[in-house]
Amino acid sequence: MYLIIFRSFFLLLLIEKCKGRPNFIFIIVDDLRPALGCYGDVNSWSPNIDNLARNGFLFTQAYAQQSLCAPSRNSLLTSRRPDTLKLYDFYNYWRNTVGNFTTLPQHLKDNGYITKSIGKIFHPDYHPIEKFKLHNYYWPKNVSSVAYNPWTDIRERQDVEGLNLKFPWQKIPHYFGKKIVQSYYAALSYIDDLVGQLLKKIYTLNLENNTIIVLTSDHGWSLGQHSQWGKYSNFDVALKVPLIISLPNHRNNFDKNINSIVELVDIFPTIAELAGCPIKSCTNSKDNLCSEGISFVPLINANIKNQTIKWKQAAFSQYPRPGIEPTWHPNSDKPRLDEIKIMGYTLRTKHYRYTAWIKFKNKKAYWNKILAEELYDHRHDPNEMSNYSNDPMYKKLKTKLNTYLKNRWYNF
Ligand SMILES: *[C@@H]1O[C@H](CO)[C@@H](O)[C@H](O)[C@H]1NC(C)=O
Ligand SMILES: *[C@@H]1O[C@H](CO)[C@@H](O)[C@H](O)[C@H]1NC(C)=O
Ligand SMILES: *[C@@H]1O[C@H](CO)[C@@H](O)[C@H](O)[C@H]1NC(C)=O
Ligand SMILES: *[C@@H]1O[C@H](CO)[C@@H](O)[C@H](O)[C@H]1NC(C)=O
Ligand SMILES: *[C@@H]1O[C@H](CO)[C@@H](O)[C@H](O)[C@H]1NC(C)=O
Repeated sequence: MYLIIFRSFFLLLLIEKCKGRPNFIFIIVDDLRPALGCYGDVNSWSPNIDNLARNGFLFTQAYAQQSLCAPSRNSLLTSRRPDTLKLYDFYNYWRNTVGNFTTLPQHLKDNGYITKSIGKIFHPDYHPIEKFKLHNYYWPKNVSSVAYNPWTDIRERQDVEGLNLKFPWQKIPHYFGKKIVQSYYAALSYIDDLVGQLLKKIYTLNLENNTIIVLTSDHGWSLGQHSQWGKYSNFDVALKVPLIISLPNHRNNFDKNINSIVELVDIFPTIAELAGCPIKSCTNSKDNLCSEGISFVPLINANIKNQTIKWKQAAFSQYPRPGIEPTWHPNSDKPRLDEIKIMGYTLRTKHYRYTAWIKFKNKKAYWNKILAEELYDHRHDPNEMSNYSNDPMYKKLKTKLNTYLKNRWYNF
């Protein structure tokens, strides 16, 4: 197998030397929210990924564990949550601190696979700017500023710096915002073209009947929603990712959507099971080879048989902050481990997102110290613009979700 890492495009190609076992191509597109034709986004031009989706299983409810590259990727590749790796920033290495865990490529390598990876940076393409509008381009009423990401990354770019915006709340002018959206979709079309070339090559090499293709992303992305840009938050747009799995015997060109909730932490056990070397659930923190997620192969099998099965009810994610108010120093978008004073824990069920911002000190969350809460009802507020956390009608539900969140994934 080959493990190929790009910066904007991360790819894991697993070519197996033993006969019969499938190869894997694992593509993790950097920062890709489900802005794809196959996810119903009409502004997108993504014919190759759409084609992959038509010949695969498309997950409509897949979530990252944290909307930042390093924590999300390390979580995915170890199948451990950020709280286990104690990795919420770019600066710590879990092997030296919490445990010498076995990663997904390491596990497959240990089982006879060859692993390779490749990385590269990509540039924008063209989309007419007229088709883009900024949706929900404002900060909602009654949401604590702890939930806000002041998009420090793009502020540091020369062109945005030239706008002389007042930190942290002044918005980017509309025309400039639309250009950012345009560039995002252009970069995406370019990635789509590369995915197309890669998949074509698999057919040219006659590998298609023995190759499983997995495409996902490390987290989502805000394109003006809540007047935010980039990742760095606990909103649905920053956590929701595309996820497509294409299996050799099920490339029959009709939509196979799977609506059950899955998490990126589930991918390692899923690939391990498909490779024929499954891993078990973590019960013991000293275990180097185990998963804090669950293989979703049963969901795929149920979908093939047109059955529904009971599945986990929520996805869990988190985001750290150095304080309630957005700041440059420390950078409230990317606090270092020793700067973290608040942890925002969030869960997403089919209908709701509930977030609690908790006091956090010395790598420990103090659940009796809730600093802010948010509750969104996706049945009529898919963009998370109305916070119901103080609404008496939602009191019972909020108490229930708070308990689930506190007990986190163990209950699911
Ligand atoms: C981790 O374990 C591997 C063997 O599985 C060993 O080769 C490596 O040196 C260990 N690394 C650390 C930092 O303990
Ligand atoms: C915001 O909160 C205030 C006071 O709690 C309340 O009067 C107001 O209706 C709320 N607004 C919204 C949009 O929920
Ligand atoms: C792969 O399987 C399909 C359907 O069974 C078959 O038509 C095709 O020729 C196979 N390709 C290769 C390279 O064996
Ligand atoms: C799958 O199940 C649904 C509802 O149970 C049914 O309406 C549909 O016809 C079934 N489709 C197939 C291909 O069996
Ligand atoms: C929304 O969240 C804020 C911050 O946690 C809270 O103070 C406020 O009362 C909530 N608003 C509503 C309408 O529930």
